[in-house]
Amino acid sequence: MNITVLGATGGTGRHVVAQALDAGHRVTAVVRDPARLAVPPQEGLTVATAGLDDRAAVLQAVADADAVVDALGVHTSGPTTFRADTARLVTSVMRDAGVRRLVVLSASGAHSDGDSAPVRLLVKPVLGWFLRHHFADMLAMEEVVRASGSTGRSSCPRCSPTGRPPAGSVAGSGATCAARTR
Ligand SMILES: NC(=O)c1ccc[n+]([C@@H]2O[C@H](COP(=O)([O-])OP(=O)(O)OC[C@H]3O[C@@H](n4cnc5c(N)ncnc54)[C@H](OP(=O)(O)O)[C@@H]3O)[C@@H](O)[C@H]2O)c1
Repeated sequence: MNITVLGATGGTGRHVVAQALDAGHRVTAVVRDPARLAVPPQEGLTVATAGLDDRAAVLQAVADADAVVDALGVHTSGPTTFRADTARLVTSVMRDAGVRRLVVLSASGAHSDGDSAPVRLLVKPVLGWFLRHHFADMLAMEEVVRASGSTGRSSCPRCSPTGRPPAGSVAGSGATCAARTR
């Protein structure tokens, strides 16, 4: 498969890139700064430098993709629409490019399906208050993806954002946070 990874320099994106290459896929890693990409040059890896303000460059990066992984993220504790806005951009360029398979990263904290009672009644409400803006943006992002008609899934990152080896599947859906887009 040809897989385009947005946010390829991030804690999650770098693992997605490395694991996809290890699995024999061809990867286009979309980055703002190639020097920040932790994955070394190798066969199957193409690095595309594209800012999110350059729609034409993002479109070009997804044009030959069989699937897109959106591992973009922003660090903020205040109100944000970053994930919903970037999902709008990504699904829009995918539509123009005729690409339908998409994996996005949501957050298990934004969902409570399948949670145990202590997690649902205590942990998630506390976590949800501190991360309320982030979770609201995640839910808005999921709606954008659902409305786009893309075929794919929303997934909780299961790998370490710290650079340590991944603790589980990156692309598999989370037990409590899966929000299938179809
Ligand atoms: N890590 C977790 O435990 C966790 C848990 C739940 C949900 N999530 C979600 O999963 C996603 C990925 O998380 P992460 O921890 O891997 O994030 P991260 O390490 O902060 O990586 C974010 C990525 O997005 C890129 N990015 C940010 N702003 C950009 C912009 N304006 N233009 C282009 N690229 C931009 C960054 O590029 P640069 O390197 O150039 O800055 C980086 O590649 C996020 O949406 C996060 O909220 C993560």
